[in-house]
Amino acid sequence: MRSRSCLYPLAFCCAIGLSHANDGSLSDSQLSSVQNRLEDAAHQSWEFGTRAQALLELDASPFSVFSDTSLPPPHDIADMTENLQAVLDIAESVVSNQSSRTAGQARPLLPDGSSGDPASIGVAVLLANWTGQDRLNYSDAATGQLNYLLNVAPRYENGAISHRTASAQLWSDSVFMVPPFLAYYGVLNSNQSLVEEAYNQCKLYRDILRDSDNGNLWKHIVGKSDSPADAGYWSTGNGWAAAGMLRVLATIQHSPYSDALSNEMEDLVAWIKEIQGAMYDKLDDSYVFRNYVDKDDAFYDASSTALMAATVYRLSDVWDDHTHIPLAQRSRNVLLNGKHIDDDGWLTPVVNPHSYGVEGSKSAEGQAFVLMMESAHAVWHSAGEPGNGAAFVEASKLLTISTVLIVYIALL
Ligand SMILES: *[C@@H]1O[C@H](CO)[C@@H](O)[C@H](O)[C@H]1NC(C)=O
Ligand SMILES: *[C@@H]1O[C@H](CO)[C@@H](O)[C@H](O)[C@H]1NC(C)=O
Ligand SMILES: *[C@@H]1O[C@H](CO)[C@@H](O)[C@H](O)[C@H]1NC(C)=O
Ligand SMILES: *[C@@H]1O[C@H](CO)[C@@H](O)[C@H](O)[C@H]1NC(C)=O
Repeated sequence: MRSRSCLYPLAFCCAIGLSHANDGSLSDSQLSSVQNRLEDAAHQSWEFGTRAQALLELDASPFSVFSDTSLPPPHDIADMTENLQAVLDIAESVVSNQSSRTAGQARPLLPDGSSGDPASIGVAVLLANWTGQDRLNYSDAATGQLNYLLNVAPRYENGAISHRTASAQLWSDSVFMVPPFLAYYGVLNSNQSLVEEAYNQCKLYRDILRDSDNGNLWKHIVGKSDSPADAGYWSTGNGWAAAGMLRVLATIQHSPYSDALSNEMEDLVAWIKEIQGAMYDKLDDSYVFRNYVDKDDAFYDASSTALMAATVYRLSDVWDDHTHIPLAQRSRNVLLNGKHIDDDGWLTPVVNPHSYGVEGSKSAEGQAFVLMMESAHAVWHSAGEPGNGAAFVEASKLLTISTVLIVYIALL
């Protein structure tokens, strides 16, 4: 009798203790606050595109390139959650702003000083067309954006598509904005050479931005233009590049070209891991990256930390490579349980997304990165958490169990 009544509370204590030690996910209401703050804060071209991508991954995953289903995706949206609607709404609000006089022309999806950023909305626009939304000519808008990138945007001397309209300048950010759109456009239009061009643009960007003299970190900005170059190793920029290459990798992997482009996929995996290795090598025991990853006096930035963790879970999901899982786990645990998401759902502290050297407070992209981290983590979790840092988790579980036991014995 006694032993039974003792066991129940013990099991209960253990369950509570373990659920805390076991880096729990955000509650549904926290997730929706993070999403709402993302919607509030997203006003710039790349913020629309990044929000669309985060919503695809979070709630419309059959339409995300990370889904296990083959590409092109299904045409119908009959049973899709409202978040594909949110993605379609982004496409609609952007395309409805285009002047009808520009139909048929090469043009960005919206006017911007950046030639790369508006293309980030391209996947949402292609999906609007693909799922048969016909109030606007999404096909023409997507083709106009493609032709602008291929034929109008300035090119760097090696052929990389400039991130700026004023002249040729390469930003690591662009790897998230442009190649995933080229690859997706190629797959939806049975155009293998466009898919190859997506890979090629990643390669050309890496050729210029990767610094083999500094552990293979990527510089942020190279080339002259209207904005100054930034030879620093911006953490978010390294994350943009890894996350963009992951989207290209997954697009190829789930497409009819996966056999033909297997070498290209191997390269992309190596380049993603190269960035992850370079970045995690600089992580200190806060498990949060500094805004410039190698600068001890730079402020801590939760935004890039979430994005890098997202890339680690994704590489595990799509390629069974778990190398950096233990560190991503620690970062994620700190972000979710270390007061880095406030009561309103804002991620903090974050770099000002409109001024990359300055600490800010409300970052649309940071909000999106949390959602990407959580979507990728959820897939990894349902796969049985491969590569989980056994030593760390087991130790913390043991600690919790022994604490509970000691308290329990003390109470007896
Ligand atoms: C559309 O244009 C209006 C008026 O110029 C502007 O206020 C709005 O922000 C634009 N929306 C998008 C999504 O670009
Ligand atoms: C738009 O959709 C139509 C019908 O599915 C397709 O033929 C066309 O290629 C699509 N356009 C683009 C740019 O993907
Ligand atoms: C969309 O624009 C293209 C030109 O880019 C044109 O060929 C096509 O007929 C248009 N579709 C509709 C439904 O208006
Ligand atoms: C693929 O797309 C490119 C760029 O639009 C175009 O020049 C080429 O003709 C397309 N190839 C095929 C096979 O459609």
